[in-house]
Amino acid sequence: MSKYLIGFILLLNFFDLKSEIIKLQTKDLVIVFQTDDHQRLGMVYMGDKLNDDNEYAQIRSAYRYDGANEGIFHMAYTPSGTWNLGEPALSLIHSDGNTSTELLYDSHMTESNMSNVSTTSIVLIDPVYKTKVVLKYKLFYEENVVEQWAEIYNQETGTLRMDKYASANLYLEGEDFYLKHYHGVWAKEMKPETTVLTSGIKTIESKLGARANLLQPPSFVLGIDGPISEDKGKVLLGNLEWTGNFKIDFEIDPYGNLKLIAGINPFASEYSLKAGEKFETPAFVYAYSAKGAGDASRNMHNWARKYKLFDGEGNRLTLLNNWEATYFDFDEQKLVSLFSGAKKLGVDMFLLDDGWFGNKYPRNSDKSGLGDWQENTKKLPNGIPFLVKEAEKAGVKFGIWVEPEMVNPKSELYEKHPDWVIRQKDRPEVYYRNQLVLDLSNPEVQNFVFGVLDTLFTENPKLAFIKWDCNSVIFNAHSAYLEKMKLPQTHLYVDYVKGFYKVMERIRAKYPNVPMMLCSGGGGRADYKALSYFTEFWLSDNTDPIERVFIQWENSFLFPSIASDNHITDWSKVGIKFRTDVAMMGKMGYDIVVDHLDENELTFSQEALKKYDELKPVIWRGDLFRLVDPWENPMAVVQYVSKDKSKSVMFNYVISNRYGAGNSTKPIVLQGLDPNKKYKIQEINVFPGSFKVIDETKVYSGDYLLKVGFNPVLSSRRTSVVLEISEVKN
Ligand code: DGJ
Repeated sequence: MSKYLIGFILLLNFFDLKSEIIKLQTKDLVIVFQTDDHQRLGMVYMGDKLNDDNEYAQIRSAYRYDGANEGIFHMAYTPSGTWNLGEPALSLIHSDGNTSTELLYDSHMTESNMSNVSTTSIVLIDPVYKTKVVLKYKLFYEENVVEQWAEIYNQETGTLRMDKYASANLYLEGEDFYLKHYHGVWAKEMKPETTVLTSGIKTIESKLGARANLLQPPSFVLGIDGPISEDKGKVLLGNLEWTGNFKIDFEIDPYGNLKLIAGINPFASEYSLKAGEKFETPAFVYAYSAKGAGDASRNMHNWARKYKLFDGEGNRLTLLNNWEATYFDFDEQKLVSLFSGAKKLGVDMFLLDDGWFGNKYPRNSDKSGLGDWQENTKKLPNGIPFLVKEAEKAGVKFGIWVEPEMVNPKSELYEKHPDWVIRQKDRPEVYYRNQLVLDLSNPEVQNFVFGVLDTLFTENPKLAFIKWDCNSVIFNAHSAYLEKMKLPQTHLYVDYVKGFYKVMERIRAKYPNVPMMLCSGGGGRADYKALSYFTEFWLSDNTDPIERVFIQWENSFLFPSIASDNHITDWSKVGIKFRTDVAMMGKMGYDIVVDHLDENELTFSQEALKKYDELKPVIWRGDLFRLVDPWENPMAVVQYVSKDKSKSVMFNYVISNRYGAGNSTKPIVLQGLDPNKKYKIQEINVFPGSFKVIDETKVYSGDYLLKVGFNPVLSSRRTSVVLEISEVKN
C-alpha cells in the first residue's frame, strides 16, 4: 500500500474519530447532532426514533446537498459574519468592533435529576473570541416535549454587543411544511391561518412590548409532511416562553428543508454583556408527534399540567366576576348585594374587577386613577377588608383585579413619578386605552408593583384570587432609568420582561398558594413563561359562545383546559345553556347579575355548577380529543376522557344551521375510550322543561363507540348538547 493511501485512510479515520454524534431522545422523538470536519455542529436528524441506535451515524451521508452552501443551513446554532450568509441565530459585535463569530463544538454533558426529565448542555466556542454558547435541551421523555434555550457567555475583556440571540435553531427535513399561525385584535383573538411554506422566510412576531400578543401569539402548529391533521402525520407545536417581543422565522432553504429560528425579537433590542457576564435566552418549547396534532396537544397538555403551568395539577375556583355586571358603576352596597348572588348560584368566589381605587382621580372610567391603588373612599368607605369579611359572611371567597404595570396620566402616581413611566419626554405621549406602561426595568418600579400586591395581601390575608390585567402596548419606548444608569435604551424591551419576572418571582415566593389569572385584556399574554406564575389565563373579552367555540378550540392546541378561563356573560343573546356548556370546557366562571336570571335559568345554572364540580377532574386533567372541527363543519365536537378511560364528557354544538347543515345526521365517532369497557351515555345540562331525546338506558361497548360512534341529535332546537359517558361495570 502506498504511503499516500495509508495517509489518506489515517486522515479519514482522524475525521471519523473527531465526528461527534449527539442523540437526544424522548419516547418517540430523536434529535441527532453531528460535527462536520470543521467541528461545526449540525442538526442532522429530527423525527421518529430508529430501532438501531448505530444507524444514526450514517444519516448525514444519505443526504447529498451540493453546492457552495453545503451544510450551512442545518447548524445547531447558526452564527453570523463568517461562513454563514443566511439568517443567523446569533449575531454579535465583539468588544473590538469585529462582527464575525464562529461556533465550534467543544463538549457536551447530560444531567438527569428527575426521572422522565433530562437536560443536555452542548458547549460551542468561538475559536478567536472565546465566546461560549451553551445550548440547553430539556427533554420530557413521556411527553415528547423539549424546552430549548441558549446561554451566551462574554469571555472577552470588553463589552460584547448582541444583535440577535435566539433561543432555538431547528432544522427539519420534510416534504411540504404547513404552518398554522395566529393573528387577531381585541375580542377577535386566535384567528388561525394556515400557509404552505415556500422558499424564503415566513415570520411571526410581536413588537408591542407589553401585552405583546395582542396581534400575534408566540404559538404555532406545524405540519411537517403535509397538511395538519388531528390524528395523522408529523406535527410540531411550538411556543416561545417569553412575555415580550418575539420573533419566529420559518425559512425554507434551497433543499426544501425548514430552518426554524425562535427567540426574543431583535428589533430595537441590541443587548450588551459586560466582560464575564452571561445571558440566558428564554426557552422555546415544542411538542412533537408523528400521530397528528391531537396527540401533540395531549402531550403538550400533560407537560404543561405537570411541569409548567402554576399549580397545573391543582384545584381552581369557580367565580362570579362583576366586570360586565357593573363596569365602573358600583359601590359597597351594590357589591355586597352581588355576593349573595354568588352564593345562590353556587360558585366558590366573588371577583371584584376594575374601578375600586383612586381618590384624587377616581377610577370611574378607564380615563383616570390607574396607578393609585388605594380604595376609593366614596365607593368603598370601609375598604377591601370589609368586602372580604362580607363575602366570607355570604359564604364565598373574595378575589380582586389589579393592573399594576400600568398608569393613567391622570393619576397621582404619574404626577409623583413621571420618571417611572415609559415615555419620550420631548414627544407627545401616545396612549393605549388612555394609559401608559410603567418602566419595569427600574428596580424601584418593580418594588412598587410588588408592593401593590403585597399590601393587598398584608391587609387582606384571606384574599383568594388575583386577576392581573395588562391592557397597554408600549409606545415611545424610552426608559429614564436606563438613561440614568447609562445603560443602552435597547435593553428596555428585554429588561421590562425580566423586571416583570423578578416581580412575579417575589410574589410567588411569598404567596405560593394564591391562584392568579393572567388577563391582559384577553389573550394579550399567552406564553408558557408567564403561565409558570399564573394558574390560568383569560383568552378573550369576547364571550359570545359561538366565537368562543373557535377561540377555545384554537387555544386547545397549545394549552390545557384547566388554564382556560371561560366566563358566562351577557355579551351575546344566545341562551344561557349554550353559554354555560361552552364555558364548562375549561375553568368556568360568571360575569352576570344573578338576580337578572329567571327561575329556570337560575335552576339550570345551579345544577350545571354541581355537575361541573363532579366532572371538572375529567375536563381539567383528562385527555382532549377534537372530534369535529368548526372551521370545516357546521358543528363543533370536543371530548374529554379521564386517564383511566372510565369517564368522558362530550360537548357538541351547532355552529351554523343553514339548510339544516348542523343537524347531526350521522354518529360522531368517539376517541380515547377503552374498546373493552362498556359505557352508558347521559345528557347533562338539560334546560328545565326540555325533553331528553337520548335513550339513557342503553349500554354501548367502547369498541362500538370508537368505530360507529354516537349521535348527539343536534338540531336547530338542540344547538348545544353535553353528554356524560360513564363506564358501566358488569
Ligand atoms: C380588560 C379585561 O379583559 C376585562 O375582563 C376587564 O377586567 C377590564 N380589562 C377591566 O378594565
